[in-house]
Amino acid sequence: MSRILITSALPYINGIKHLGNLAGSMLPADVYARFMRAQGHEVLYICATDEHGTPAELAAAKAGQDVRTYCDEQHDIQRRAGEQFGLSYDWFGRSSSRQNRELTQAFCEALDQNGLIEERTDKMVYSIDDGRFLPDRYVEGTCPHCGYDKARGDQCDNCGRLLDPTDLINPYSAVSGSRNLEVRDTKHLYLLQTKVEPQLREWIASHDNWPHLAKSIANKHLEEGLIDRGITRDLAWGVPVTKDGQPRPGFENKVFYVWFDAPIEYIGATREMFDAKGDADGWKKWWRLDQGADDVTYVEFMGKDNVAFHTVSFPATILGSGEPWKMVDTLKAFNWLNWYGGKFSTSMSRGVFMDQALDLLPADYWRWYLIANSPESSDSSFTWEQFQATINKDLADVLGNFVNRIVKFTESKFEAKVPEGGEAGPLEEKLYADLSTLIAEATQAFDEMEMRKAAQAIRRIWVLGNEYLQEAAPWTAFKTDTTRAAVIVRHGLNLVRLYASLAQPLIPSTAEKIAASVGETLPMAWPADDARAELSHLPAGQGVAAAEVLFRKIEDTQIAEWAERFGGSEG
Ligand code: 2FM
Ligand code: ZN
Repeated sequence: MSRILITSALPYINGIKHLGNLAGSMLPADVYARFMRAQGHEVLYICATDEHGTPAELAAAKAGQDVRTYCDEQHDIQRRAGEQFGLSYDWFGRSSSRQNRELTQAFCEALDQNGLIEERTDKMVYSIDDGRFLPDRYVEGTCPHCGYDKARGDQCDNCGRLLDPTDLINPYSAVSGSRNLEVRDTKHLYLLQTKVEPQLREWIASHDNWPHLAKSIANKHLEEGLIDRGITRDLAWGVPVTKDGQPRPGFENKVFYVWFDAPIEYIGATREMFDAKGDADGWKKWWRLDQGADDVTYVEFMGKDNVAFHTVSFPATILGSGEPWKMVDTLKAFNWLNWYGGKFSTSMSRGVFMDQALDLLPADYWRWYLIANSPESSDSSFTWEQFQATINKDLADVLGNFVNRIVKFTESKFEAKVPEGGEAGPLEEKLYADLSTLIAEATQAFDEMEMRKAAQAIRRIWVLGNEYLQEAAPWTAFKTDTTRAAVIVRHGLNLVRLYASLAQPLIPSTAEKIAASVGETLPMAWPADDARAELSHLPAGQGVAAAEVLFRKIEDTQIAEWAERFGGSEG
């Protein structure tokens, strides 16, 4: 048994997340956490809302709320949506917590003591009418690269290039629309990443086991060379900047840049959790190498745009502190899940958001689709047609039908009990062999966080069960040889049991119903590769009861209605 720390990238606080966000970090992290728990490991799965920075301030202003109230409300909304999607966080924290503030300030002070922080004077856009500096998204204008006229100060949404607010052509204030802007001097703290570069290179080089996408992005950033990074902003909302525990002179009206404090919240949230339990030092055994964290395996899940921050910036903070922190062992990154080949867009109402998805169908339908079509090796696209086909085929026809058919047959012919008697024959021997291979394949895929492969192996296991039942035909055998029929039905019911245990990470609510239909309860242990043993667990005489329909097929009329409502191919 190992201790496994899992984090998924912290969702921004500004509004409920769409299916693309879910598919690219939180859901695969949850699947992995559930798989590891089923394997008997001690898992700590941490997530939180990322509450600072201009996105939060701007969204609060738009909602007409003060930013604290806005964050309180949005945090609750995101926490609830996560719960309803079955995201099994051990803690869902908040980057605006006291714990994160203290940690963030302590990291900066440690970096400062190690000579890695420097005060520099920057030229920043200042809005005379708003009476404030306009960092990041507070300024908009025309992209100097592609000419898009609504580019934000930090990034152009059209061409994807990272920008500096002073790069924009014809800039205007996102607060007031005013073009009465000028460039003024302002002081900021810089983290001297160039000085940490050798350590960072060595650390990245020692991790050749990272999955490909994460590794290649990390190397690309190293090749481009590291630059010193501004880690403060002229904003009111965020973690205040300190020196020796007091407000840092000259920085009274500044806070840390959101990307400085956000990853520290992985630690902060763990502290929030243990503080809530009244175990003030409990977090250390997960995060401090000198307090027991040296035997922890730490895995991070994130979208590809977050990789640089997790392979360069955050590790530079940790390495630069000179303190014995647990660092990531494996980093799993995802490409984009698109909407019909384009982007999800709130403003153009293209795409489905987490709360809306659950109004249409239960979480497991979405979970299965999103994992089976995970944007792993390349971007993938959501389409209503593919969603319908996946659900109807995999879940309704293959899995749902199998479970229903064999349990109903047991109810009508074997008094709703697992039958006894008879010996396995050649068909069962073949089933054991094929199944053992596929269980091993699924287990390995989950272990390696290859989500699509894992889903494929599970689907093939479901298909195998159907083929077995088709060939063995207990309904025919029953007419001439009830002992043979009993053997087949017993194997069929044990397959149902196996399906419940294999389904736990992916479709946890359905796994519970499937288990209940053969008289079992969750959690169940993850199956071993020995299918002969796995298909002999159910005791003869154990009662079975068909569940209500496990999955309803999605009708063409529903698809037409949803495509109309949420935007479809025309977008
Ligand atoms: O890109 C994002 O959605 C960020 N909010 C992710 C932050 S991850 C972590 F470092 F906090
Ligand atoms: Zn552009």
